[in-house]
Amino acid sequence: MDLIECKKMNKNYQNGKIEAQILKEIDLTIHTSEFVGITGPSGSGKTTLLYVLSGLEKPSGGTLSLFGKPIGDYSETDLSELRKRRIGFVFQFYNLVPNLTVRENMMLAWIIGKNQDETIIDELLQLVGMKEFQNHYPNQISGGMQQRIAVARSLINDPEILFADEPTGNLDTKNGKDIMELLRKLHRENGKTIVLVTHSDDYLQYCSRNIKLVDGMIVKDEILSL
Ligand SMILES: Nc1ncnc2c1ncn2[C@@H]1O[C@H](COP(=O)(O)OP(=O)(O)OP(=O)(O)O)[C@@H](O)[C@H]1O
Ligand SMILES: [Mg+2]
Repeated sequence: MDLIECKKMNKNYQNGKIEAQILKEIDLTIHTSEFVGITGPSGSGKTTLLYVLSGLEKPSGGTLSLFGKPIGDYSETDLSELRKRRIGFVFQFYNLVPNLTVRENMMLAWIIGKNQDETIIDELLQLVGMKEFQNHYPNQISGGMQQRIAVARSLINDPEILFADEPTGNLDTKNGKDIMELLRKLHRENGKTIVLVTHSDDYLQYCSRNIKLVDGMIVKDEILSL
């Protein structure tokens, strides 16, 4: 199934009086079970593309369909439902709530989505190897551990597609590799569709496809052998 399809999609941002075209004529289809790695220089539009593909931002032109339905046919409520239930998002800076424990951070996401049994929290903490740290606060665990929690949290509603914006960007090599191994496990064993932005070409070995952006345009779209 095509989870996401866009044709000649543009995204502009208003910078003062100037309207800057950030994404240009993007033609892209993302299929179930792909592990897409988006690369490209800083400022090329990778984060912007992720935001538009995940419904966090609206395109400025062209077409975009999410789960087979044009973005224009979604109301704001539909879109927020979509983000709660069908889409997972992992940010570069973890974004955990500092005064809540690991478990409470998971609880919060769980309460917002409300479509799984509470045992999912334990299953996910187990999956990312963080069960024994469930009562720690974010500042009591390492960056790598915080990111593992952020990944676990993004999975709380069993999303059909997981977006990750440089989830290894703030981690050292060892912790970065651990996060990539975790994403590989989700892709291989749980069949998750993943769209990852990464600075590092080394991590493309985990991906089934590479899309390279330069100056807001797709300059490469290549299937990789896993
Ligand atoms: N909300 C915004 N308003 C105006 N301009 C923006 C906005 N967000 C991004 N931009 C501009 O869009 C361009 C692409 O930004 P984007 O963050 O998508 O790049 P990126 O490829 O993710 O870069 P990096 O690798 O540094 O994270 C940049 O020139 C940026 O300044
Ligand atoms: Mg970015």
